[in-house]
Amino acid sequence: MKRIAIIPGDGIGLEVTREVVELLGQLSAEGLPLAWKIFGYSADSYLREGRALPEGGMEELARFDAIFLGALGDPRVPDMAHGREIILGARRSLDLYVNLRPVQLLHDRLTPLKSRRCEDVDFTIVRENTEGAYVGAGGRFREGTLDEVAVQEALATRRGVERVLRYAFRLAGASGEKLVMADKHNALEFVGGLWYRTFRELEGEYPQVEARHLFVDALCHDLVRDPSRFGVIVTSNLFGDLISDLGAALAGGLGLAPSANLNPETKRGLFEPVHGSAQDIAGKGIANPMAAFLSAGMMLEFLGFGEAGRRLRAAVTTCLEEGSVTPDLGGSSTTAEVGRVIRNAVALGAAVVEER
Ligand SMILES: NC(=O)c1ccc[n+]([C@@H]2O[C@H](COP(=O)([O-])OP(=O)(O)OC[C@H]3O[C@@H](n4cnc5c(N)ncnc54)[C@H](O)[C@@H]3O)[C@@H](O)[C@H]2O)c1
Repeated sequence: MKRIAIIPGDGIGLEVTREVVELLGQLSAEGLPLAWKIFGYSADSYLREGRALPEGGMEELARFDAIFLGALGDPRVPDMAHGREIILGARRSLDLYVNLRPVQLLHDRLTPLKSRRCEDVDFTIVRENTEGAYVGAGGRFREGTLDEVAVQEALATRRGVERVLRYAFRLAGASGEKLVMADKHNALEFVGGLWYRTFRELEGEYPQVEARHLFVDALCHDLVRDPSRFGVIVTSNLFGDLISDLGAALAGGLGLAPSANLNPETKRGLFEPVHGSAQDIAGKGIANPMAAFLSAGMMLEFLGFGEAGRRLRAAVTTCLEEGSVTPDLGGSSTTAEVGRVIRNAVALGAAVVEER
């Protein structure tokens, strides 16, 4: 039995996770050995209880085989304190150092790029997930005055950089894809320099991988000009965050972008759509649940249910082909309608076989 901790979170996180939970129920009724527990950690609970997680909360989450997160973010918590404690806290305390963000165009009409097709937009971003500009190093001085000073530092360790680079080399090697490492060592010489030197040192250990370096600004340019040249892209936390949204736009938008936060050694994983809580559409029942379903598909594969994961991705593609889509993709379906179409398409597939 695989056990999943589910945190629906805030805003549309609640709406898209509801659809995923229904799917888990369906798969479990079909015989997939899944159990799950829903945790109400959110802005509401944070405001009510004064903290994001109860005593021992992270330790409890760590005991599950996987964590699924909808989205966090609420205007009543403007500094996102609860989100940082839960998302960044899980990434750090479970040491989920790989943030895997596949960018796969599932229907030709969804890319904003002229004359590009599904086979042209299919690459994976490997974002370092525990270091960089997101470690919270810095401070402010004379806040709120004209003399205010703010410092935000990026941190990189040889160990942290090396392990995520090795993961990307192995991923590219296993999938036969080309690897690009992107940094900005021409301007950010200390952190960028560490990334670049480590990359160059490791290259020789993976002779089967065609690897090259690009400055991150050139990468953004080239991704738009010709995404078909990319297979695996590895980069730092901040750059990976930015490139992910660019990638999401190339493949149809945030409503379709899934992600996994992984520690490949300890086999821990947290799965979440790339999007946030989308306050502008929250509560309207029109959020696109596809990113959440695709993230759930990655989670099922991670748990050893590869066939179920593949069926789920195929079901999302079927739904797109049928045109049952929410307004962000130009349709008029609701979140619940899209959820139903996807679950029906999953049900039409072969019976789920437990693989592990
Ligand atoms: N991992 C997370 O939980 C996460 C990630 C990003 C942002 N946030 C938080 O979410 C809140 C809102 O942030 P934001 O507006 O910058 O980013 P967002 O991703 O929530 O929304 C950006 C835009 O994309 C649209 N969008 C996003 N997901 C969609 C979906 N599934 N279907 C249809 N449209 C969708 C939104 O309507 C909005 O116009 C903030 O509090 C932010 O801090 C959380």
